[in-house]
Amino acid sequence: MSLRFNSTYSKNVVSQSDVDAMAPKAVEAMHTLMSKTGEGNDFLGWIDLPTNYDKEEFARIKKSAEYIKKNADVLVVIGIGGSYLGARAVIEAVKSSNYNLLVKDTPQILFIGNSISPAKLNETVKLCEGKDICVNVISKSGTTTEPAIAFRVFRDLVNSKYSQDEARKRIFCTTDAHKGTLKELADTEGYETFVVPDDVGGRFSVLTAVGLLPIAVSGVDIDELMAGAAKAQNELCSEDINENDCLNYAAVRNCFYNKGLKLENFISFEPDMAMFNEWIKQLFGESEGKDGKGLFPTSCIFSTDLHSLGQYIQESGAGLMFETVIKFNECDDDYVIGEQEGNLDGLNFLSGEKMSLVNDKARQGTLLAHTEGGVGNLILEVEKKDAANIGYLIYFLEKACAISGYILGVNPFNQPGVESYKKNMFALLGKPGYESEKENLEKQLGLC
Ligand code: PA5
Repeated sequence: MSLRFNSTYSKNVVSQSDVDAMAPKAVEAMHTLMSKTGEGNDFLGWIDLPTNYDKEEFARIKKSAEYIKKNADVLVVIGIGGSYLGARAVIEAVKSSNYNLLVKDTPQILFIGNSISPAKLNETVKLCEGKDICVNVISKSGTTTEPAIAFRVFRDLVNSKYSQDEARKRIFCTTDAHKGTLKELADTEGYETFVVPDDVGGRFSVLTAVGLLPIAVSGVDIDELMAGAAKAQNELCSEDINENDCLNYAAVRNCFYNKGLKLENFISFEPDMAMFNEWIKQLFGESEGKDGKGLFPTSCIFSTDLHSLGQYIQESGAGLMFETVIKFNECDDDYVIGEQEGNLDGLNFLSGEKMSLVNDKARQGTLLAHTEGGVGNLILEVEKKDAANIGYLIYFLEKACAISGYILGVNPFNQPGVESYKKNMFALLGKPGYESEKENLEKQLGLC
């Protein structure tokens, strides 16, 4: 197995009898998921995706990635939520959060359309000045405001910089197979298109063209990524909680929830996992947080955040949160601490030691301190931070999230709450069709 779940350090809060009592519910939830009989069962395409994907499209993704690598200094990826988080998470986890600064033979990758900040949009345009660019716009609905604004800008930029024929070759659209504004535009203009499958929701779409095209451009091996996910698909099938770590993890985190702990803090001791944490937060937050239920997913990078949030977690975290630590057994690139003449900093007791050992001792020290402080720790132990293991981890978390949602009694595959802010924003902007609400909302804001 590429991943091991260890719940030993949660026993101060969740006992074995709590888990045993939760087990039948967890098994039932997994059964509902795998028999495709639960709510949201029209969004289960991700379950078989690692082995049952469009091979022709997969080959086109690789071909397009090669084209982009050959012809662009910068790939601009436009998308929000599930349409960008997965790609960025994998690129930063496997390559680096400093990917764009590395000396490499692959293009820079800039993500935009994930906010409505004009400053960020202008900055990204400036970063593309004098560079050859390609654009990958990703939107399942094809109508989301944030990416739509950014795509207007970058489409104009590409059209003004290149001939019509050349511009057409530099824009790649990932969207619905048949419908939507973006699909219509792509067909009219003759852009290369990739599909967000009907039965795969945004936050479960990283292993479709949504994630795979930008990931392939970065040089991460997408065959390995899919192979890792396929291994997880194959291994995480048992309905015995003692044989299936994914099922076990889903059960234990729901035990915490039932004890009134409403916050799950996802931890990594590797800074390159910060965006992966963001992907996790969307996956769990959007899947579970509904009907007044759900764990609130948050995240920290340690030891960095031990110097900011560590105080709170240690002394006020008990009764509020538990932690899920993603631990990598192998370090990508180690550093051996040297000897310093005079030992002025008092660190010579570490000379000759690998920095990964110091990081691991910090992890162990934190584990004991937080457990002692009443904050239970769950550990997801992964071999290394490479494409295959990250693929495995993605599938593990997706499945654990889906099972958890069914244990909780929610539909893990919808996101009705996302619409509320959009409705208000459109009304306040005076979008046709939303006029009736405008005055009422402006009154509430004290604007009239
Ligand atoms: O998980 C989801 O479904 C959402 O986060 C969407 O991915 C996000 O809202 C973007 O939607 P779209 O791809 O339709 O532009």
